[in-house]
Formats: sequence, structure tokens, C-alpha cells
Amino acid sequence: MCSRKRRFSDEYGSLYSHLPFNDVKEVFLGLGDEELLSEDLYREIYFKLAKKLIAEKEYEFTLFLSANVEYIKAALEGLYHATYSFDKYKTDRKKLPELTINVNSNIAEVEFFEILAEVKDIMQSIFLSRDLVNERAEYLYPETLANIAKEKLSKVGVEVSIYDEKECEEMGLTAFLSVGRASERKPRFIVMKYLNNPESEEIYAFVGKGVTYDTGGYSLKPSASMETMNCDMGGAGTVIGAIHLIASRKVKTNVIAVVAACENMVSGSSYKPGDVIYSLSGKTIEVENTDAEGRITLADSIYYTTNKLKVTKVIDIATLTGACVVALGEIFTGSITNNQEFFDKFKLAADKAGERVWQMPVDDSYRRLNKSKVADVKNTGGRYGGMITAGLFIENFVYNNIPWIHLDIAGTTYLSKPEKYMVAGATGIHVKTLYNLVK
Ligand code: BES
Ligand code: MG
Ligand code: ZN
Repeated sequence: MCSRKRRFSDEYGSLYSHLPFNDVKEVFLGLGDEELLSEDLYREIYFKLAKKLIAEKEYEFTLFLSANVEYIKAALEGLYHATYSFDKYKTDRKKLPELTINVNSNIAEVEFFEILAEVKDIMQSIFLSRDLVNERAEYLYPETLANIAKEKLSKVGVEVSIYDEKECEEMGLTAFLSVGRASERKPRFIVMKYLNNPESEEIYAFVGKGVTYDTGGYSLKPSASMETMNCDMGGAGTVIGAIHLIASRKVKTNVIAVVAACENMVSGSSYKPGDVIYSLSGKTIEVENTDAEGRITLADSIYYTTNKLKVTKVIDIATLTGACVVALGEIFTGSITNNQEFFDKFKLAADKAGERVWQMPVDDSYRRLNKSKVADVKNTGGRYGGMITAGLFIENFVYNNIPWIHLDIAGTTYLSKPEKYMVAGATGIHVKTLYNLVK
């Protein structure tokens, strides 16, 4: 007892492990002051614990944990976070460990196994989202993204429609098609429907930016910033993961996810700086910079979603601006809204998920920055306030001013280095927020 005391304190993060006579390793984990604990601290500490144990080739855990249900869930999430890695291109990769988890806790065993099943579903959809975003553009392009979405989502009861370039033309998605025109890999417009609550009029729409690679086009990116642009379909990854989770859990709700998938490339058929293009809404867009392509694809996808699909609330999720990363780093998602009540509800869902979101101001002075001399709007609002002007560009295409939230995940979807219980690379950010919101 005395020697254990020396090696282990109850400080948050303190770990003591030993092997008693029965050959089952016992690990003591310090959680610190109970008053200061949060779900995220549980996620983080159990992630660290599992990382250590997995490195020691331990895959079967019995938790002795007396805590409320939310904390137990968070601890389990932390454990599962430790099992993810994107190593499919490593020829000496190891098989991902399958964890076996039991509990000796204050809650009944049946309840525990229900919680465990939910956490497994959550993590599976987050990992699906991560796998999509981590995949390289050589293999993941509009057609393959659409096919994977169809394959994965059909299995859980989501109806997936895929429209090719010709069909998109007939639908009038001119702005979207301008961005994708230069690529050999042709665009796809993907509509995913999960309508499981006929008694409710409410239909949530999640619109994800699906630029499977962003070179910048003729406003070419320097190669150092281009290198990670396989992540530019991070919004698509989130909405596909979210609808996958919602359907896997059979949540009684109505959700439609929409992705306009294309590649922003350079060729003889590219759209060019100075072009004026048409959009589905009828509004014309001056292209000041071909690298501000995401908002152009979203203009058509959000107008289509709010005007044609008769949804009642809409959230767009996009790796939209470097300005957002400058402002908030890789820590907080930047956000704007046209409806505070909707945002407040959304914010609770995000907080509960441990997924940090920061609301930016909205003002006519920002809106004016998007005014064009030649067209109805232009696709850049200048260097200053770039995250806000990008979001407000999209606002122009929300039909009938229905409640709308814009999420800029340029910083949070794909990490340059690990953060808490997230490894570097794709995070699957906001899959859980969106699930919490509709649940
Ligand atoms: N895909 C980028 C934004 C981005 C930056 C995503 C960093 C992930 C990490 C987007 O299409 C872009 O290029 N935006 C421009 C807009 C500018 C030209 C107004 C940017 O932020 O530089
Ligand atoms: Mg760009
Ligand atoms: Zn982009």
C-alpha cells in the first residue's frame, strides 16, 4: 500500500499499473478533482490509457468505473478513439485491434451494453467519415465518393440518388458544374434521404462541401498548401458519417444530406478568374478567384436543397477558408447563422459532443464586401474577415431565409498534429454533433 501510494496519486492523468498474482493486469487511473471533471476529460484520459494498453497488446478491458452514464459513454468513446489509424498504405500495417469491454460499474449490465452498442455505432460512423477524408484523391473522386456513399448508406436504410454531369446540367446546377469542368473525373451530385418520422414536418438538411481535390484552379495554390487538399471534401465526410449514424441508430427524424462532388483542377476547359457564371438560383456570380470554389459549389447545392427538397432547416459544412484557420486554429469550427434560436440548439448538441464551435458576427458591412460591379455577387470578399464573407456569400443562396447554420471546418476536419483524443489527419468532426442535434 505504501509503495503504491508513492507511485500513484489521484491527480488527473496519473497512471499506475501492476500485475498481481492472477496475471490480470490492474491499472489505476487518477481522475483528479471530481468537481472539475467533464465528458471531454474522460474521453481524453481513457484515450491515453487505451493507447498505452494497446501498445502493450492488451485488448480486453474490464472497467471499474463509478460515474454517471454520460461519463461512462465518454470514457468508452475515449477507448475507441485509441483504436483508429489510417495505415492502409503501410505494407507492414497491423490489424486494428478489436476491443472487448466489460464493466463493473454502478449501472446495470443491460444498460451498459446498450450504451456500449451506441458508442460503437457512433465510433463506426466517425471512422467511416475519417476514412473518406483521409483517402487520397487518386482513389477518392466524385464517382468513387458517390459509390461508397451509396454502398455504405443503402445498408442502413438511406436512399441515395446520384446525378451525373448531364443530369446536373438538366437540373440547372451551372455554378457547381463550372468548378468541376476542368477535371477528367466528372462531377456527381449526391442526395441521401433518411425520412423516418412521417408525423413530423421537420426535415433537417446537411449540405457538405465535396471538393475531392482543390488545386485552386487558375488561381493556383502553392504546392505546400495544395498537398493536403484531399481533405477538401471534409464536409461531405461529415454529412455522410452523420446520416450513416442517424440511420444506424434508427433515430425517429427526417434528414436529407446533399453533396455536390467535384475536383477543382486546371485545364483548357477550366473556369477562369474574371468569368461571370450563372447559378441555379438565377443569381449571377463574378469569379474573382477560382480558389474560392467551395462557396460556388455550395451556392447551387444549398439552393437546390432549400428550394427543391422542401427542407425546413439547413446546415452547411465546409472546409471553406484559410481565414477560419488563421482565426481559430485547428481547435474551433467557425460558424455563422441567420437564426439564433436554431444556433443555440445546435450549440448545445456540439458542446455535448465535445466538438468546439465559435459563432462569428454577421453584419451588412460584411455583406457589402461580396458586392460585384458586374454580377449579383462576387466569390471573394477580400482578405479581411474572410471566414465571415465566405459564409455570407452562401447566405445569398438559402431559399426563403429558412433557419441556416454555416460551419467552416477548414481547421478542424484534418489535423496537422494530434489534439486531445484525435490523431493527426481526419477527425470526423461534427458527425456526433449532428446526431445529437436530431436525436
Ligand atoms: N479549400 C480551401 C480552404 C482550406 C484551407 C481548407 C485550408 C482546408 C485548409 C478553399 O477552397 C480556399 O482555397 N479558400 C481560399 C479562399 C480565398 C481565395 C478567398 C482561401 O482560404 O485562401
Ligand atoms: Mg479553394
Ligand atoms: Zn476548397
